[in-house]
Amino acid sequence: MNTTFLGISYTKFALCHDKIRLMYKFLRPLLFSLNPELAHDLTLGILRYAGELGIIKALMPSQINDPINLMGCEFTNRVGLSAGLDKNATSVQGLAALGFGFIEVGTVTPIPQIGNPKPRMFRINEHQAIINRMGFNNNGLEILVKTLSKLRNKKLNIPLGVNIGKNKNTPTSEAINDYLICLDGVAPYADYISINLSSPNTPNLRDLQFGEPLEKLLGAIVQRRNELSESLDKFIPLLVKVAPDMTNEDLLKVADELVRQKIDGIIATNTTVDRSVIDKHPLSAESGGLSGEVLFEESTKIVSVLSSHLGDELVIIGVGGINSPSQAVEKIKAGAHLVQLYSGLIYQGPGLIRSSAKAIKNIPSE
Ligand code: FNR
Repeated sequence: MNTTFLGISYTKFALCHDKIRLMYKFLRPLLFSLNPELAHDLTLGILRYAGELGIIKALMPSQINDPINLMGCEFTNRVGLSAGLDKNATSVQGLAALGFGFIEVGTVTPIPQIGNPKPRMFRINEHQAIINRMGFNNNGLEILVKTLSKLRNKKLNIPLGVNIGKNKNTPTSEAINDYLICLDGVAPYADYISINLSSPNTPNLRDLQFGEPLEKLLGAIVQRRNELSESLDKFIPLLVKVAPDMTNEDLLKVADELVRQKIDGIIATNTTVDRSVIDKHPLSAESGGLSGEVLFEESTKIVSVLSSHLGDELVIIGVGGINSPSQAVEKIKAGAHLVQLYSGLIYQGPGLIRSSAKAIKNIPSE
C-alpha cells in the first residue's frame, strides 16, 4: 500500500471537508439572521444551482462508501435525507453531492398546495430544535413527476425515495384515492415510496395510522404497488412513516399490520406534538411538529421497541434528533438499518452527513 498516496488523499479529504465546515461556519450566522423559511428557500436555491453546475461535487470529497443492499436498493451509505426539506425535488443533485447515501423527496400531494399561513417554521436555538406547521406546501404531483423524469438522465447513483401524502381538502374517508394517484405518478421514478401517515399538520391525517382505516389504505396501496411492479417490471419497496406520539401498544399494532400487509419498511419517526421537553420556552405554544435534538430520545426508543419486536421483518429507517455522529451510531445500535437527517443539518451543517456516515461505517461488527 502506498502510504504517500494515502497521506495525500487523506489531506485532500481533510481540506475539502474543512472547506465545507468553514463555509457553513461563515454562512450559518447569515442564515440564522434570516427568518427560517427564507433561509431554507435560499439554501435550497444555492444547492439547486451549485448542484446543477457541479460546484458542490467539485468541492466535496467523494461520499463515504459503506454500501448496503436493502429492499432491493443499493444504499451507498446509511445516512439519508429525510422528507420535507426538498419537497419538490428541485435540488436533488446538490444534496446528493453533499454525501448522502440516499435522498427522500416530498411530501407530494396530488394537487399543489400553498400550505399554512406564514410564519410556520420556528427555530428554537436553545434546544437545537424546530417547530414547523408547513402543511404540505408543495408544487403538486404533476410538476414533481416532470422534475423526476428529468433527473433520470442525471445519473444520481444513490436511491431516491418519494414521500406521498394527501391534500388537506381531501376528506380522510377518501384519502386512499390521493395516495393511489401519487403512487401511480411517482412509481416509474422512485427507488422506494414512503407513505406519510404521520404529519401533525394535516388535520386528522394521523387517524389513518390505526385500525380499519390503516388496513384498507394499506390493502389498496399494496395491491396497486403489485400491479405497478408488474407493469413497470421493477420492484417498488413501500415504507410507512409513523408518528412518535403513540403508546407502545399502538405502535406494535401498526408494526404488525405493516408486516401482515407485506409493507417493506417503517420510518420512525415524524415530528412530535409533545412539548414537555421545551415547555418553558416562549415558542413552545406554537402549534405544529417539533423536531431536532429534543426528539432524539423518544424517537430512538421507538426504533428500539420496533427492532425488538420485528427483528429483520421490516427495514427500519431511524429519524429524529440526530445532531452528532455519535447519535447516528446510537440510532443504528438501537436497531435502525438506515438513518435520516433533517434538523441536525440546520444546526450542524452538511459536515454532519459525512461524519455520521463515517462513524456508522466504523461501528465494529459484533
Ligand atoms: C419535516 N418533516 C417532514 N416529514 C415528512 O414526511 N414530510 C414532510 O413534508 C415533512 N416536512 C418537514 C418540514 C420541516 C420544516 C421539518 C423540520 C420536518 C419531518 C422530517 O422528515 C423528520 O421526520 C423530523 O423532522 C425528525 O427528524 P429531525 O428533524 O429531528 O432530524
